[in-house]
Amino acid sequence: MGKDNKKRVFSGIKPSGELHLGNYLGAIKNWVSSQNEFDNIFCIVDLHAITVKQETEDLKRRIKEQAAILVASGIDPDKSTLFVQSHIPAHSEMAWLLNCFIPMGWMEKMTQFKEKSGESRERVSVGLFDYPALMAADILLYDTDIVPVGEDQKQHVELARDVAKRFNSIYGDTFKIPEVKINKETARVMGLQNPAKKMSKSEGGDANIIYFLDKPDDIRSKIMKAQTDSYNEVRFDTERPGIYNLLVVYEAFSGLKRGDIETGFEGKGYADFKKDLADIVVEKMKPMQDKYEEITKDPEYIEKVLKEGVEKARPLAERKIEAVRQKIGLE
Ligand code: AQP
Repeated sequence: MGKDNKKRVFSGIKPSGELHLGNYLGAIKNWVSSQNEFDNIFCIVDLHAITVKQETEDLKRRIKEQAAILVASGIDPDKSTLFVQSHIPAHSEMAWLLNCFIPMGWMEKMTQFKEKSGESRERVSVGLFDYPALMAADILLYDTDIVPVGEDQKQHVELARDVAKRFNSIYGDTFKIPEVKINKETARVMGLQNPAKKMSKSEGGDANIIYFLDKPDDIRSKIMKAQTDSYNEVRFDTERPGIYNLLVVYEAFSGLKRGDIETGFEGKGYADFKKDLADIVVEKMKPMQDKYEEITKDPEYIEKVLKEGVEKARPLAERKIEAVRQKIGLE
């Protein structure tokens, strides 16, 4: 249990590219609304980001930018803990220690590595292969109760559970076994130009992605140019992934029921729908974008938030790493 007997939830986000609508609707929006229910730890997982090549200046800028976007979206640093992974060295140390308790066979089963490495298996970093060990460290350092993830990350949380159980069975009760929670309610946003694949920071190019900080004109133009089909009928039909994806975004922002949305657009075509969708996306993003502008006027503000976050998280992480070192016999 975390603060005030609330369940502790750990969530991470990678500064591997500019934040987009998929990150917002699929994760951040839900993080914001769950702040009263859970003791939330939000971590900008920069060590995970460097498992693939990052430009130094871009990475540096994005870490702060992501933190500011999270606060602008409604993450309240007084209610939740927000910090940068590499600012607490216990994450790297714990990943190494866990590595020594994870059999190769478990890691070799990880499907995300197979997908991400693809044809380049011989050239990708060892870090990319070891990504799940670092993720297990993030989760286990904080006695996490719940890890909310998409289906694609479920296997990694299961590995964290397995290594925790293995360590506990050797050394006695040390780690809390986290529960995985698959977010079925949150929207999965697909690319605007390639609706067969999810909208991703590092794939598909600018026209495929609505960035959190896109200007209204860019949002409108990207939505108007989004791929659809020739039916010109506004219906939730998974067989028509382009319009389906746009409707999912409309549903998430409007809060309306699917049937009501379809009824509202009866007799209207895709152009009318796209115009309304662009209006609602622009309208909902604006207050958060304005808040972002306001926050970033004072560059010290976000530094202070991140420093306070580290101060809250570090004692928990250090307590756990200390216990693990002692059990192993490292001191
Ligand atoms: N398209 C998406 N729809 C819904 N949710 C999404 N998330 C990411 N893309 C979508 C959710 O955002 C949270 C943070 O993601 P992440 O940064 O840790 O990693 P990711 O899922 O790998 O995100 P990207 O944008 O696809 O990054 P790259 O291209 O660098 O790999 C997670 O909760 C994720 O589910």
